[in-house]
Amino acid sequence: MERKDAPILGIESSCDETAAAVLAPDGRILAERVLSQIADHAVFGGVVPEIAARAHLAVLDALVKDALREAGLGFADLDAIAATAGPGLIGGLLVGTGYAKGAALAAGKPYLAVNHLEAHALTARLPGLSPVQPDFPYLLLLLSGGHSQCVAVEGVGRYRLLGTTLDDAVGEAFDKTAKLLGLPYPGGPALEAMAREGNAAAVPLPRPLLHRAGCDFSFSGLKTAVALLVAAEPPGALPRARVADIAASFQASVTDILGDRLEHALALCPDASAIVVAGGVAANGAIRARLAEVAARRGKPLIAPPLRLCTDNAVMVAWAGLERLRAGMAADTLAAPCKPRWPLES
Ligand code: KG4
Ligand code: ZN
Repeated sequence: MERKDAPILGIESSCDETAAAVLAPDGRILAERVLSQIADHAVFGGVVPEIAARAHLAVLDALVKDALREAGLGFADLDAIAATAGPGLIGGLLVGTGYAKGAALAAGKPYLAVNHLEAHALTARLPGLSPVQPDFPYLLLLLSGGHSQCVAVEGVGRYRLLGTTLDDAVGEAFDKTAKLLGLPYPGGPALEAMAREGNAAAVPLPRPLLHRAGCDFSFSGLKTAVALLVAAEPPGALPRARVADIAASFQASVTDILGDRLEHALALCPDASAIVVAGGVAANGAIRARLAEVAARRGKPLIAPPLRLCTDNAVMVAWAGLERLRAGMAADTLAAPCKPRWPLES
């Protein structure tokens, strides 16, 4: 198989974003495209896997060709083709990896089956992203709709899971709580906006696992506490001021939990060169501010990639592929399966 120092194509389709990106061999972004399916799923209040898979299939080919056109390249000019092979929704994974394998076979290029979590984990090392490219090991806080994890990133392909959620992911807790409060999907941004109007001390809410050893998370008790509160309210729509107070109190609880868990994670990875946050929840201003406070107190730089690279995208997939090639790791065969479950440390 032909290998050369040439650009790499990345494809992401594991959830509700279809994305393609082309990176130069040094990691420079030559083209990036993301299409969100939020509008397709909003009326159902969450991602519907079958709709997601069909939507990926409908747009992926045009999206990839558009990205290649902007980069001024064809498949024949690439070094390799990388696609997210898990974890995620099987339908979307099959669409993305099927496309990538077909293109790799036709163009005679290596295929790379990328772990989506690894892609999030390595994004912070993308050249030019922050003044300091973090050295291994660094601490990753992955806070998304599907994942809540503290990971010691010790090298390409070397990840130590320090803690994870025992139930809901943090973004999922935002989404479910927002739904309880009658806010639109996705709930995180809507809930943050309401929280700005509210009083965070108005409603006492639990802070599950606070100060507990290790750095696992648990959010379902917090969500249940909000559900019980809402159920005890007089019938009819909640007054806006009440929604705002509950939103602010919920966000304050999550912020306290994440700050505390970060402290504990640092104790488990004391030689971390930096703290990296990724995932859609990293967009939350209050949470970012608290993590920055903890980082400053511990004398560690906090690296939060720009939001478009924090949420699901294909730049991170292409970059993870490049990191693997540069680390001398072998490409995958076309028989490599999709893995809806694929723990980072495996
Ligand atoms: O990383 P992401 O785009 O997708 C995956 O889950 O992989 O994260 C989406 C999650 C959703 O749960 C969304 O509600 C949450 O991130 N989110 C936020 C905010 N913006 C997005 N949560 C809290 N505050 C926000 N501003
Ligand atoms: Zn993700």
